[in-house]
Amino acid sequence: MKIETDFLVIGSGIAGLTYALKVADRGTVSLVTKRNIDITATQLAQGGIATVFSEEDSFGAHAEDTMVAGAWLSKPEIVELVVQSGPAAVGDLINWGVQFSRNQDNEYDLTREGGHSHRRILHAKDATGREIERALVEAAQQHPNITLFQDHIAVDLITEAKVLQRPVSPNRCLGAYIFDKENEEVVTFGARFTVLATGGAGKVYLYTCNPDIATGDGVAIGWRAGADVANMEFMQFHPTTLYHPNAKSFLISEAVRGEGAILKRSDGYAFMADYHPLKDLAPRDIVARAIDSEMKKYGDDCAYLDITYKGAAFIKDHFPMIYETCLQYGIDMTREPIPVVPAAHYLCGGLRVDQDGETNIDNLFAIGEVACTGLHGANRLASNSLLEGVVFAKRAAQLSLERFDKQYPPNPPVPTWDSGNATDSDEEVIVAHNWDEIRRCMWNYVGIVRSDKRLQRAMNRILLIQQEIDEYYWDFLLTSDLIELRNIATVAKLIVQSALSRHESRGLHFTIDHPERDDQNFQHDTIIPGAEYCSSGS
Ligand code: SIN
Repeated sequence: MKIETDFLVIGSGIAGLTYALKVADRGTVSLVTKRNIDITATQLAQGGIATVFSEEDSFGAHAEDTMVAGAWLSKPEIVELVVQSGPAAVGDLINWGVQFSRNQDNEYDLTREGGHSHRRILHAKDATGREIERALVEAAQQHPNITLFQDHIAVDLITEAKVLQRPVSPNRCLGAYIFDKENEEVVTFGARFTVLATGGAGKVYLYTCNPDIATGDGVAIGWRAGADVANMEFMQFHPTTLYHPNAKSFLISEAVRGEGAILKRSDGYAFMADYHPLKDLAPRDIVARAIDSEMKKYGDDCAYLDITYKGAAFIKDHFPMIYETCLQYGIDMTREPIPVVPAAHYLCGGLRVDQDGETNIDNLFAIGEVACTGLHGANRLASNSLLEGVVFAKRAAQLSLERFDKQYPPNPPVPTWDSGNATDSDEEVIVAHNWDEIRRCMWNYVGIVRSDKRLQRAMNRILLIQQEIDEYYWDFLLTSDLIELRNIATVAKLIVQSALSRHESRGLHFTIDHPERDDQNFQHDTIIPGAEYCSSGS
């Protein structure tokens, strides 16, 4: 089957939906998502969206906080651009119907999170992402030009180089092959503009608060098609996810610490003062490493987050969803501290894009967590990512629309997918086993604290697994699990390769072999050029 569309948007979180809504009046939009439209990382975002909204605050202060959190690796011009675009981006969300929490005076309620010098986080209680997703999904579903393809997962991009079977400069994106899970067939989408808004890659790690869909698909398929990636070593571990065997690393928002919660050891000692002057509101990398170090030193299984002193009424009003969820697991956070551990949360690196969200492949945009825009540097400031998603989606949409009416050489016809001699697999255990092995290997060897030896070990194993996957991939018919496995293996390799090439500790990348920041000889970005065109496409 073949579908022609003006705009192909892969991913239905805040970035993908914003782009779709911004271009839909001008052409046909195919919105592709691998599960239901609202199963996204945006939906799970608790904290909120950071923007300058009060008179005491300023763009300068927001920019400075972003640079400090990013260990001075963020690009100042991008930081300026994003913080200054903040109020307009939030205005768009409000116009689409997002209802942020208000205080008793009916003004927007601004909360605080780690690394922010001012209250500047707009939120909808403790379920901000759910409210944003609700409003944007409703708006998208009402638009006659947006056609939704649920349960469709991207396999590979179609580029001019791939069609012509030779390198082309500049290369151009012509659409994508997308696997329809229900009908078990690969659909060929030809598109003038292709947008990767597939979110992050937390599932590369054994423990993550990301949804199951976060398998780094966009990074992997973009890189395979020739798009450059940058700064993949900077995986952010959220310091506080619920420690409970059945809770799947449920996130305990940083806003809980923003409103005064204190981290303690099992013996009740509040340890953050030993690590940073901002104590519990230190940047996330420092808090996550502090918890990791205390757990290792004292042999504890977790740390404890205590907000009981604020009283039940305050807690239930500010954190209704976290309160209810903890209660389901037998923890009453109004009376006892919450057991917490760090888990993989946010990929600061990704497909390298310019200030309009475009990759080095023409008409291929990457927006949201899949992209590396230069905003986050070595560590993302809390609640900057929803903002980045909207700002870059708007910019990518603007550039697409400017090009839309201009004459371009017409796209060459795109070939439909060819399954070759692939047959049904009789050994799906290989897929399950390799999934597990990659995630464990990444958690044990490429986690919060790294070393050259551990990274090299991880690389050896991942290359071996990749070889196995490649052999398997071309022999058997596609399944969704196989597509995702191939992607997490690619992303794992890119993370390890980037980590091996940074010979210092900075932000989220901490290695015992180079424990200090090196301001003399550091490389700004660890860039891995996109895979060159090759006929196997692997
Ligand atoms: C949180 O609520 O702690 C997550 C917010 C974020 O990661 O930006």
